[in-house]
Amino acid sequence: MKTNEKILVADDEEIMRDVLSELLSSESYSVDVAENGTRALEMIRNREYGAVLLDLMLPDMDGLQVLEAINGTENRPEVIIITAFASIERAIKATKLGAFDFFEKPFKNDKLLLAIKNALEHRRLLEENRRLRQTLHDRYSFHNIIGKSTGMQQVFDLISQAAPRRSTILIQGESGTGKELVAKAIHASSGRAEASFIAINCGNIPSELLESELFGHVRGAFTGATSAKKGLFEAADGGTLFLDEVTTISLEIQSKLLRVIQEREFRRLGGLDNIKVDVRIIAATNTDLQTAVRQGIFREDLYYRLNVITIQIPPLRERPQDIPLLTDWFIKKYGDENQRDPLAMDPSAMKVLIDYRWPGNVRELENVIERAVVLSPHTTITADLFPKNISTPPPDTAFLLSEEPVSLKDKVGRFEKTLILAALEKTGWNQKKAARLLSVNATTLNEKLKRLKIKEP
Ligand SMILES: Nc1ncnc2c1ncn2[C@@H]1O[C@H](COP(=O)(O)OP(=O)(O)OP(=O)(O)O)[C@@H](O)[C@H]1O
Ligand SMILES: [Mg+2]
Repeated sequence: MKTNEKILVADDEEIMRDVLSELLSSESYSVDVAENGTRALEMIRNREYGAVLLDLMLPDMDGLQVLEAINGTENRPEVIIITAFASIERAIKATKLGAFDFFEKPFKNDKLLLAIKNALEHRRLLEENRRLRQTLHDRYSFHNIIGKSTGMQQVFDLISQAAPRRSTILIQGESGTGKELVAKAIHASSGRAEASFIAINCGNIPSELLESELFGHVRGAFTGATSAKKGLFEAADGGTLFLDEVTTISLEIQSKLLRVIQEREFRRLGGLDNIKVDVRIIAATNTDLQTAVRQGIFREDLYYRLNVITIQIPPLRERPQDIPLLTDWFIKKYGDENQRDPLAMDPSAMKVLIDYRWPGNVRELENVIERAVVLSPHTTITADLFPKNISTPPPDTAFLLSEEPVSLKDKVGRFEKTLILAALEKTGWNQKKAARLLSVNATTLNEKLKRLKIKEP
């Protein structure tokens, strides 16, 4: 095994330095030694080490002080504490200061070597994340929207092209794909950036209220209108108005909307004066607007007015290559928010995230990561912190959708087979364990395997 990882041993006892040097060299690490804290720090500043084995009792400095100073260095190595006088408080303090592991003398060689291996792996992951984050900032982000997939790169291009114009934009995409984020990016990269960006979710507001919310009203326009009120169109003058869930708007308000878009003027509810505004409208929907037109719940002329430029955001399951970038982005965001040491995703946990279908899209991913970041007891996030449904694939029910008629008995049979296969996969084809998972006894399972002709691949 060849490794070019460098490890520093900081210990005042010569015997310890020799023993550790020999042990580490035998594992092909390249080893340097330091006999006190000052020397150790000097070496760490001059050379990049993957890990430091640090004694807590050094002649010139307290080991915890050295650890603190190491935290401030540029290429911070992972630190493993080795000490003869372990006290719980010191161990806790060291862990809080970011020590990767803590060993009491005498220690077991294999345990120490394993800890070193893990520490180096952790550091490699962090480094990879840092590099990714850099690339991500350079190439794969646009006003806080992350994405390297062709689908998202096209979205970025459209945003840049459309932003400087005044034309209305329609954003379509499933829930949680980032429609509002895209709308904000358009506003921020337009000439209107200094003016207001106002968002309204039309689906949340009853029709009668929505009208006065958008257009305002004059005093006495309706019972309860005790004073005049500006609407959002006036508030957004010079800026952008984001109409979310635009398909839920009633036909009556749709016709008023059409008028503002065409004439650039409107009247407050109950008012007689025409009010001129310069507002850019960005509309969004997570249902297909064309279908709404066909169903007669959305005006065709308004559809064409809104649909001058359409930005279609692909669902997350169609762009799995964005998942590691987004994951890393959210780990950083929530790690910082919760003041955690730098965290990294375990590669097998990342695979679980990539394989999942994400019906709630980026919002769902963001929630899963936030939760994992907050709950993770270690600096490497593992898949056991994800909600159950993320790691267990839904049963394969595609055959239910097939065109050919399939009898219920057949369907049940196939479903049974799917479940048995899933249980076997999960238990590594251990029939006893699989039977327990399925709550049948082992003989019954064995008979079923024969009947369904299931064999271990
Ligand atoms: N590409 C992305 N990069 C970074 N964060 C994203 C991305 N897409 C979505 N998000 C985040 O996911 C969350 C949901 O995004 P947003 O509210 O824009 O979705 P939406 O499409 O408007 O959803 P809904 O249809 O449910 O209103 C937000 O916290 C947003 O910051
Ligand atoms: Mg939204």
